[in-house]
Amino acid sequence: MLKALCIMERTAVADIVNKEGSEVELSGWVHARRDHGKLVFIDLRDRSGLVQVVFGPDAAGAGDLRLEYVVRVKGIVQKRPPKLVNEKMPTGHFEVSAKELAILNPAEPLPFPVDEPGYDINEETRLSYRYLDLRRERLARNLALRHRIVKQIRDFLDHRGFLEVETPDLTKSTPEGARDFLVPSRIKQGSFYALPQSPQQYKQLLMVAGVEKYFQIARCFRDEDTRGDRQPEFTQLDLEMSFVEQEDVMRLNEELLIELVRTIVPRKKIQEIPFPRLTYREAMERYGTDRPDIRRDPNDPDLLAFCWVVDFPFFEKTDEGGWTFTHNPFSAPKPEFMDDLLHQRSIPDILTTQYDVVLNGFEIGGGSIRNHRAAALEAVFGVMGFAKDRIRENFGHMLKALDSGAPPHGGIAWGLDRFVMLMAGEPNIREVIAFPKSGDGSDPMMGSPSPVDKAQIDELGLELKQRNAKK
Ligand code: AMO
Repeated sequence: MLKALCIMERTAVADIVNKEGSEVELSGWVHARRDHGKLVFIDLRDRSGLVQVVFGPDAAGAGDLRLEYVVRVKGIVQKRPPKLVNEKMPTGHFEVSAKELAILNPAEPLPFPVDEPGYDINEETRLSYRYLDLRRERLARNLALRHRIVKQIRDFLDHRGFLEVETPDLTKSTPEGARDFLVPSRIKQGSFYALPQSPQQYKQLLMVAGVEKYFQIARCFRDEDTRGDRQPEFTQLDLEMSFVEQEDVMRLNEELLIELVRTIVPRKKIQEIPFPRLTYREAMERYGTDRPDIRRDPNDPDLLAFCWVVDFPFFEKTDEGGWTFTHNPFSAPKPEFMDDLLHQRSIPDILTTQYDVVLNGFEIGGGSIRNHRAAALEAVFGVMGFAKDRIRENFGHMLKALDSGAPPHGGIAWGLDRFVMLMAGEPNIREVIAFPKSGDGSDPMMGSPSPVDKAQIDELGLELKQRNAKK
């Protein structure tokens, strides 16, 4: 009783549809403003939506309101006259007749409008003011969608006995595919950590540790050029399972993908279940790519054509005439090729257990069954021409672990940003990442990367060739 008398609770804008005739207190931003002299109308925005607020002639301060001012309004919820109903707004049958207004914070004029999708605004500008850009409804919706997808992934995997385990971001540089981001060590001068390109080795070590079913929403770092579906810092749904075969991992992931689509974006239609499977060779012959877009009608924005691509060659020739892995050095070959791998013969014919999951022409995930025996992993690096001591130096910890009772295991990682992009119907992953990097890998809002003080460089025992560090 006392509470009701003394403290009015804030009402979310979307909830006013249930409060006709009541007094409510709303807080949010001035999204739009129409000054009709005696009457001032604003659209008030909070995370839940928009509502029209009407200020009468005696409402002090209403004339001062400008776009994006932060305000608190007390008023009565009333039905709009039939002619003034706005069917486009979920709250459009109602408005709030203001009795009190408090300006919590004024705002400078905006560098760009936030009441439209914003695709045509220069990206550098959008990213420089990302905190404003994220106010637009489209991006707020994308953040919410991403949250729901991640939550459902966690629930699904939890129900199936998976443990979410965090793995380090300060780790060791290993030749794994892309270029590493390096972090100099202050304590061990001249030595460097590497940021993980993926948690691949740690998740395998967790299998050796007996975790059996692991997953992580994992941040990965690759110093590559940015593209529409590639960021230097991105997120994987990473998972690994013990005592499984290729079919088990594929089945679980297919179930999870189908459940996510059905519950989170039910208007979207999956073209074919079970997901069709193509061999690498079929994909290349029929579509000329190993991530084929197999949609029957590419103009339908709600059609999702998943497929699996399997039977990739394990190795490919390097420019220097040697061999390198096509996907993942930790993969096992298909069982019928294990002998060839161990004897390092018929190299171009060896097929890997790698499976990629492709959606509408985007590779949204990839994984494999791993070599759980040290000899097979050593043979992979042997094929790549690594001398024994280099293998020991780079991968000694993995070989030792595999020799300590490693169970058979396999897993997968999804490019979570790519999956969310396709669920949201967005053209690139920057639209579904809160704070992405721009085309040249920088963050124009924070101003990173940036020069650092000379003292910081000295402390790390480093010297810059071109000294652009701050004095
Ligand atoms: P892979 O390197 O194929 O496999 O990565 C898995 C998935 O991550 C996504 N991806 C990216 N997304 C955004 N920006 C990037 N720069 C980027 N690079 C990759 C892709 C890709 O399919 N450890 C293995 C997985 C495993 O075998 O379990 C790995 O990282 O959607």
